[in-house]
Amino acid sequence: MEENIKLNKKGLFNPSGDISINAKAIVNGTSTNINDLNNIKYKWVSNWYRQAISNFWIPEEVNMNQDIKDYRKSLTIAERRSYNKTLSFLIYLDSLQTLNLPNINEYISAQEVSFCINLQCFQEDIHSQSYAYILDTICSPDERNSIIYDFKNDSIMLKRYEFINGKYEEFIDNPNLISFIKVLVANYILEGLYFYTGFMFFYNLGRNSKMNGTAQIIRKVNKDENNHLSLFKNIILEFKKEHKEIFTLEVESILENMIKEACIQEIEWGFYIIGNEIRGLNIDMIKDYIKYLGNIRATSIGLKPIFEGHLKEPLSMSWVSNFSKDDYIKLDNYGNSSLYSKSSTLKDDL
Ligand SMILES: [Fe+2]
Ligand SMILES: [Fe+2]
Repeated sequence: MEENIKLNKKGLFNPSGDISINAKAIVNGTSTNINDLNNIKYKWVSNWYRQAISNFWIPEEVNMNQDIKDYRKSLTIAERRSYNKTLSFLIYLDSLQTLNLPNINEYISAQEVSFCINLQCFQEDIHSQSYAYILDTICSPDERNSIIYDFKNDSIMLKRYEFINGKYEEFIDNPNLISFIKVLVANYILEGLYFYTGFMFFYNLGRNSKMNGTAQIIRKVNKDENNHLSLFKNIILEFKKEHKEIFTLEVESILENMIKEACIQEIEWGFYIIGNEIRGLNIDMIKDYIKYLGNIRATSIGLKPIFEGHLKEPLSMSWVSNFSKDDYIKLDNYGNSSLYSKSSTLKDDL
């Protein structure tokens, strides 16, 4: 491998390591690997870590009694299909995150950043636990299994899972500085794009006063995922400062194409699992929202916008970000749709 893109595993205790702060680096640092949190280089870590750890929650805090009834009686056939497939996808995404974050962390040589990834990994497990809690509450064991393992019968779903998995495997198979920035961006896409159609779907049910317990749990997951997104944004920007030579026009164009491809797939996925069958959502809303997200994700890490226009959150989707806020239930007069009339049943106890 070319020496200038070599990536080293951080290894274990390194007694001859450098103890100066300036010797720390996102990757290829020469630290002792001692957890010295009194001398941190990346100042944003302090706030990030405290905020992430203070978000601790468990799914059992949320009452699912109404969801049990809604799942059987209130959801339309199309809504139940979308609910099941969306949940299945989130189960896959969190499983993959728990599996892959340690692969990335093996190369992160700044302990304070490594701590953040460990915490993220723990939170992804809580998310998996929360999906298990939802399924355990609303479904029979057979229904649960058919949702979790839906990809075994759904070739569109399987293809999508394999594509996302493949992006992570490229790094595992050939770790170097180029594949490292690609896996960081793949992770950033997963956190900041792939989760969002799912969030949008559950929030839409919530604003229709259906499956409010699920929407409440999803809001807690969403809050963590926002933190994970900002963690990887920070890691990407620090890595960029430390390895400017990697960010050639060619590499930037590869990263932009990764985001573009992800958006196109996410829009197709939105058509497949939501389409025009769900009250309150339609394919144009999904398309506009995903294009906006793609642009904001790209520009936040110093890349060019992916889609012309689409630089502001579409007005038709402003309820998504409002729904994710802690104080949403205080916004009694938000919007003018009767869909909001029962939103006060959502309680946030964070
Ligand atoms: Fe997660
Ligand atoms: Fe996450």
